[in-house]
Amino acid sequence: MAKLWAGRTDGRTDKAADEFNSSIGIDRRMYRQDIRGSMAHAAMLGETGIIEAGEADALIDGLQTILDDLDAGRLAVDPGAEDIHMFVEQVLTDRLGELGKKLHTARSRNDQVALDSRLYLRDETDEISGRVRELIAALCDRAEEYKDTVMPGYTHLQRAQPVTFGHQLMCYAMMLLRDIERLSDCRKRINISPIGSCALAGTTYPTDRAFEAEKLGMEKPCLNSIDGVSDRDFCVELAADIAIVMMHLSRLSEELVLWASWEFGFVELSDAFTTGSSIMPQKKNPDMAELVRGKTGRVYGDLVTLLTMLKGLPLAYNKDMQEDKECIFDACDTVKACLDITAGMIRTMRARPERMRTAAGEGFINATDLADYLVSKGLPFRDAYKISGRIVSECIKCGCVLETLPLEAYKEFSPVFGPDVFCAIDLDECVKRRTSFGGTAPQSVAAQIAAVRELIAK
Ligand code: ARG
Repeated sequence: MAKLWAGRTDGRTDKAADEFNSSIGIDRRMYRQDIRGSMAHAAMLGETGIIEAGEADALIDGLQTILDDLDAGRLAVDPGAEDIHMFVEQVLTDRLGELGKKLHTARSRNDQVALDSRLYLRDETDEISGRVRELIAALCDRAEEYKDTVMPGYTHLQRAQPVTFGHQLMCYAMMLLRDIERLSDCRKRINISPIGSCALAGTTYPTDRAFEAEKLGMEKPCLNSIDGVSDRDFCVELAADIAIVMMHLSRLSEELVLWASWEFGFVELSDAFTTGSSIMPQKKNPDMAELVRGKTGRVYGDLVTLLTMLKGLPLAYNKDMQEDKECIFDACDTVKACLDITAGMIRTMRARPERMRTAAGEGFINATDLADYLVSKGLPFRDAYKISGRIVSECIKCGCVLETLPLEAYKEFSPVFGPDVFCAIDLDECVKRRTSFGGTAPQSVAAQIAAVRELIAK
């Protein structure tokens, strides 16, 4: 295709150079944003008298037809075009003739691509937030179901204290709530309009940048035109926010993999989200969870690619920046798929409370409650802690657990022990008593669920 920019050079580039330079395969997905941006630009050109009002209307109509044709599949993006901006402008000029050539007045591809990227990523940010919300809703529903199901809580992956499965699930909901906040904060900085920065220096035409920003639903025009075309912070920031979402999904995936193992057996993932082995007939593998965990590395790669691509760039636009889209689009696509898959796994998994209870019954996870019992009888916590530790060690020696150690044996460690000790160390009781704000008691978990549901409804 003849280059729109042929002039200073004859535009007859080497075929390999053309292919190397082209970004159409990546940026074609921004065609709607590109056309919307051009419509706002044409409207501004007409409004300010830079072109005639009738010309602006004709450009807008022409752009609308291109949009409709692309949406309907009547027009295909030319894979030989340099990028989506050149493609749309070329089609417009083919269709409208001379008038089409006026669209690019007081504009450059530098501010155009910055605008398109922001519009596209603004939509993606909303889409991702919506999917995070869906996952949180799934976690809340399952947490409600299991708000009194006792399981061992872990530190150092060693059984630590009894918690409820609902409490554990709600912890992930909290992480994801922060993700939504981060995304909505990032959205504010995405939603600033660079259009009208032109190549870098602004323009001599009497443009109205605030008009364009408003037309596009953006908060305001950026203050500095060099910044308008140089800034890709919004890509980095979004990639970082997505990387954090992925880190959260990866931690959840890791737990699902562990919980679904024979060793734990705390959950059974639905057949719909597991695979079999090609050789071992007994296998049910948590591939989806593993893939989410694996894809986290790839999204971190996207973030690091962006940071590295930008770190040595002088102002303003440099072609290096064309590389931004492949990674930020990949990060968006990946996190969306991972969020959907994770919500599916959570909604369809089956917990196995009996397995959780068995695991909770071993490992002395009520030892803290034993110490607390002694404190309730007037002992200082440090002494109570020591005595409880000795009792645990005694149990290990004689092969019993705190629940099965006879009262006489308890009394040898301290005269304050009475028959009520067995209620104090009962796992359900241990969990029920942890009613502190944010604690693991079923009523506290119910309060967490209610609070989170209210937040995501907003
Ligand atoms: N395809 C380019 C990109 O994605 C558009 C901007 C081109 N600007 C330029 N001065 N060559 O970055």
